[in-house]
Amino acid sequence: MSVEDVRLIELPKFLDARGNLSFAEEGSQIPFPIRRTYWIYDVPGGEERGAHAFRKNQEVVIALSGAFDVVVDDGTTQKTFSLKRSYYALYIPSGLWRSLDNFSTNSLALEFGSEPYSAEDYIRDYEEFLKLKKDGEI
Ligand code: TYD
Repeated sequence: MSVEDVRLIELPKFLDARGNLSFAEEGSQIPFPIRRTYWIYDVPGGEERGAHAFRKNQEVVIALSGAFDVVVDDGTTQKTFSLKRSYYALYIPSGLWRSLDNFSTNSLALEFGSEPYSAEDYIRDYEEFLKLKKDGEI
C-alpha cells in the first residue's frame, strides 16, 4: 500500500434549517466490515496521537468536530490530509505509518477500524516499519 491508496470519501449530507445530518454505512461509505470504533478528544494543544502503523487494521477517520491533520507515510512519501468537515471521511489502508496532529480546541476524531483491538497489530517503531515495508512484509 502507498499513500496514493489513502482517499477522502465525501459522505452524504442533508442540509436543513434544523441542523445538518451526515451518515456512514458499512459496505457503502465504509469499505470494510466495522469491528471497532474509538474516538480521540480533549487533546491538549501541540500533542500528537496515533504515530504507528497497523499490519492488518484498515481505518476510516472523521473529524466529527473541530479540525486536525492526518499525516500518512508509506516509507517513501508523506502526505497530509487536513480534516475539518464532518462530511468527509479519510480511508487509510493497512501497512501505512500514520499520525494525527494540529488538533484544534474541542476537536473530536472518530475512527472506524476493520479489526478488533490487538496490540500485536500495531507497529510503533518507525525503523521497524521501514524494515517491514522494505522486506514487503506489510
Ligand atoms: P494508543 O494506541 O497508545 O493511542 P494512539 O492511537 O494515540 O497511539 O492507545 C492508548 C491506549 O488505549 C493503549 O493503552 C491501548 C488502548 N486502546 C484500546 O484498549 N483499544 C482501542 O481500540 C484503542 C484504539 C486503544
